[in-house]
Amino acid sequence: MKLWGGRFTKEENELVNRFNASISFDQRFYRQDIRGSIAHVTMLAKQGILKDEERDQIVKGLEGILSDLETGALSIDPSAEDIHSFVEAELISRVGDVGKKLHTGRSRNDQVALDMKLYVRDEIGQLDVLVKELLEALLTIMEENLETYMPGFTHLQKAQPVTLAHHIGAYFEMFLRDRSRLSDIRRRMNTCPLGAGALAGTTYPLDREYTASLLDFDGAAKNSMDAVSDRDYLIELASAMATIMMHLSRFSEEVILWNSNEYQFVELDDAYSTGSSIMPQKKNPDIAELVRGKTGRVYGALTSILTVMKGIPLAYNKDMQEDKEMIFDAIDTTKGCLALFTGMVSTMKFNKEAMKKSAMNGFTNATDAADYLVNHGVPFRDAHGIVGRLVLYCLDKGISLDEMSLEEYKAISPVFENDIYEAISLKTCVEKRTTLGAPGPSAMREVIKGYEKLLAD
Ligand code: ARG
Repeated sequence: MKLWGGRFTKEENELVNRFNASISFDQRFYRQDIRGSIAHVTMLAKQGILKDEERDQIVKGLEGILSDLETGALSIDPSAEDIHSFVEAELISRVGDVGKKLHTGRSRNDQVALDMKLYVRDEIGQLDVLVKELLEALLTIMEENLETYMPGFTHLQKAQPVTLAHHIGAYFEMFLRDRSRLSDIRRRMNTCPLGAGALAGTTYPLDREYTASLLDFDGAAKNSMDAVSDRDYLIELASAMATIMMHLSRFSEEVILWNSNEYQFVELDDAYSTGSSIMPQKKNPDIAELVRGKTGRVYGALTSILTVMKGIPLAYNKDMQEDKEMIFDAIDTTKGCLALFTGMVSTMKFNKEAMKKSAMNGFTNATDAADYLVNHGVPFRDAHGIVGRLVLYCLDKGISLDEMSLEEYKAISPVFENDIYEAISLKTCVEKRTTLGAPGPSAMREVIKGYEKLLAD
């Protein structure tokens, strides 16, 4: 059934129909569409626009459609134009003429704006749960690895020693920000478009605030033209998801490096790796690579939705139908990646010995050797130069700073004494970094306490 046959004299052509239709993808929000319709007729009856019996018949019909769709007794007609027409036509076929009153004081423009908001609001909730589960997995790793030493890198060159807890803690902060972005979006988007009509409201005495409250919105959207054509929240969500994916992708890149023969910092669980069809020795980090790869599609969604919106005059234009497929894909992709990533990191084994060994070489304690000199009265710039010469000496001899004799130290600077070895030990280097935010276990313990509280709330 077409909702708009009256004005038309020709049947349109099948290609046009298919091009125009959105049923193949907007059917995923049939629940939201029905929920919105029930709220709408409930309000219509409260306002005396529908009789109570009419409301009851319509609500009963809609509830029947919902439960039949859930059980599979009813399937969605793929030749319908969109989910809104499908539900309305099905309602009319079930309850008769009274069903034709459902669309009183409503347009598909405010209807689709509502459905999308309801759908996205639920999905934001699910994304938030998945990010929270990832945070919990990361927190467990942190709690267990306050004294697991590893090199910290800048420029992918060993820089200074840190702990695994500290390194993972950096990702924890990123995903915390992701959660707060999601909750900001949810709060800002939570106004109800229903009752905006096609663009200019309606002449019926609707109670829009009532409808909004039935649907758990904070209130009704205050400008009907904006209400039907606002897709800002989708842009914000695409941006938040792109950021989540960027974080997952950076982390994946590290997992891939750490899992390589060169690093051997982690071993992936068999369930999260794959073999090679030809090379029997291989255990590949495919999941991490796929997460890194799928980041591209989510970035694509952000670019697409921004581009779709950039030239649209007020108010509704059909371009906006293009908001759905890419946002749905981005949501599915981000949710899938979050869930798999959490499974992967919480089952991977850390090779603490390899991490420690790696932290012991590569002169990660050079800064601490310079600090030692500074603590003995040498100006930092001079200390930097002296340690530079120590490093050069070690490189030439193929040894580390810890392996130099005191005589060798003294030959370069007489300031060095026997306590230099203690001062540049891995343990000292890490434990002395106790300023807030630093890897020292005492500092990290405090930060972790805060995280534990945060996740418990
Ligand atoms: N399928 C449409 C969309 O997703 C629904 C709104 C249709 N409105 C209209 N005026 N054609 O945007």
